[in-house]
Amino acid sequence: MHSHRIKNLFSAIARHYDLLNALLSLKRDSAWRHETVKASSVELGSKVLDVCTGTGELALAYADKIGTEGFVIASDFCFEMLVIGDEKVERKERGTDTSFLAADTLILPFLDDTFDVVSVGFGIRNVSDLETGIREMARVAAPGGRVVILEFTQPVNPLFRSLYYFYFTKILPFVGNFISRSKDDAYGYLPRSVMKFPNCDALKAVMEQCGLTDVQFHRKTFGIVSIHVGKKLDKASSESGYTGLWKQ
Ligand SMILES: C[S@@+](CC[C@H](N)C(=O)[O-])C[C@H]1O[C@@H](n2cnc3c(N)ncnc32)[C@H](O)[C@@H]1O
Repeated sequence: MHSHRIKNLFSAIARHYDLLNALLSLKRDSAWRHETVKASSVELGSKVLDVCTGTGELALAYADKIGTEGFVIASDFCFEMLVIGDEKVERKERGTDTSFLAADTLILPFLDDTFDVVSVGFGIRNVSDLETGIREMARVAAPGGRVVILEFTQPVNPLFRSLYYFYFTKILPFVGNFISRSKDDAYGYLPRSVMKFPNCDALKAVMEQCGLTDVQFHRKTFGIVSIHVGKKLDKASSESGYTGLWKQ
């Protein structure tokens, strides 16, 4: 789907987004995000970028782990989603520097080799050019840093898959569109986009094409979602260290 349609679709459902995530995933979404943070090997003091952050749930899960020495930047191109994330930071002071920023994942406004972890939760599927999005994530990751992707995938077990698809393609769109009052069929778009998205092995291959190494993936909840983690190669030229954040 074209970027401006994606932006409109998410701006229309922003206020109901967190509630529907919890309801439609039977609250598994929060556990998936915590498992993603764990898989990223993030540490106290890490510099984290969470792209396509939406209402910031994954960004805030990172913020809870990195203490006052590190920071989290949470970026998205949908202003209405970012506002909700920012309100959460205002409500709960974490001590970690957490900033929300309007930015397109296809042209990130950061210098090369900046972040220890560059992460995305349920967002890369919506980016209009998958490979360019992952390349941008890899570009801004520091050498030795991690690119982490949490995404819906297709369950492997055929019996479970047919039961799940009934829920995913019939019940979820009905409930989601009804509660969010989506006029764009946002919750019908969800299963359609997941079915078109590369499977775990194919996504691993795209990450490798984008220059990432040691790409591992972990299926969660019968393969409904998966977490992919790739490493950016170390390079000698980066040994001068961290010099700044922003691309001119
Ligand atoms: C399904 S939401 C995911 C939100 C959040 N990461 C989570 O874990 O729930 C997808 C988000 O990706 C954002 N998005 C899609 N394409 C984008 C792009 N090219 N640049 C920035 N944000 C984008 C949308 O605005 C939306 O907020």
